[in-house]
Amino acid sequence: MKRVVILTGAGMSAESGLGTFRGGGGLWDEYPVELVATPEGYASNPALVIEFYNKRRTELLRVVPNEGHRLVASLEKDYDVTVVTQNVDDLHERAGSTNIIHLHGELMKVCSSHSPQDLRYVRTLQPTAPTIALGDLAADGSQLRPYIVWFGEAVPYMSDAIAAMRDIDAFIIIGTSLNVYPAAGLLNYAPAGTPVYLIDPNDVNAVLPRNAIHIRKGASEGMRVLIDEYLKISK
Ligand code: OAD
Repeated sequence: MKRVVILTGAGMSAESGLGTFRGGGGLWDEYPVELVATPEGYASNPALVIEFYNKRRTELLRVVPNEGHRLVASLEKDYDVTVVTQNVDDLHERAGSTNIIHLHGELMKVCSSHSPQDLRYVRTLQPTAPTIALGDLAADGSQLRPYIVWFGEAVPYMSDAIAAMRDIDAFIIIGTSLNVYPAAGLLNYAPAGTPVYLIDPNDVNAVLPRNAIHIRKGASEGMRVLIDEYLKISK
């Protein structure tokens, strides 16, 4: 079976109603990134950070996957698919994708402040109790914190993402500004000559291979064009 890797970013979930980070009105305009998405921000004001992710979680529970997520999941009928996502939402899972690498963590999970990557202390929150508070402890006795990879922290699943790039037949990038490393560097691991497709309504500030095809559409429409015109999957 042919193999594809799909790298997704915030634009993938925009049509579900979740905001992107950069550009006018992005999340980082409203909440300075250094306060809510760095270990230093968390150390100086943990209550603010915990509250920020509580809000994001409550928001996530109100939205549903869009057609783009569903079309990504549908590719599993014809391809061996690995979704590598920078998104911390669970919309790919809910749309039915089964092989997902979350590079930047998962919003519905919480972990130890002392050892954030120690999976023994990672817990999944239930939709009926989606928030945490100062004083809630992980099993190692440290404060429970969001299971999010913040700026300046290691990206433990990057090596799995790189391994998934080996021998792929196509690389598909959807809704990411390709500003954040190491995630954006995944592009460099596409074997030479691999077809590369970028679905994004806007220009992306990255050096794409010469053969890359930019489908200037939103995630849902862009996936329809990709499937019908480029992958030519018969229905
Ligand atoms: P950005 O907000 O940087 O980029 C979102 C991209 O989505 C832009 O290129 C938009 O043009 C595009 N876009 C907007 N609407 C779209 C739509 N309907 N369909 C498709 N694309 C659309 O978000 P990311 O690149 O995901 O990290 O940001 C990467 C990381 O930076 C995030 O994972 C997050 C953030 O800081 C952490 O929180 C650690």
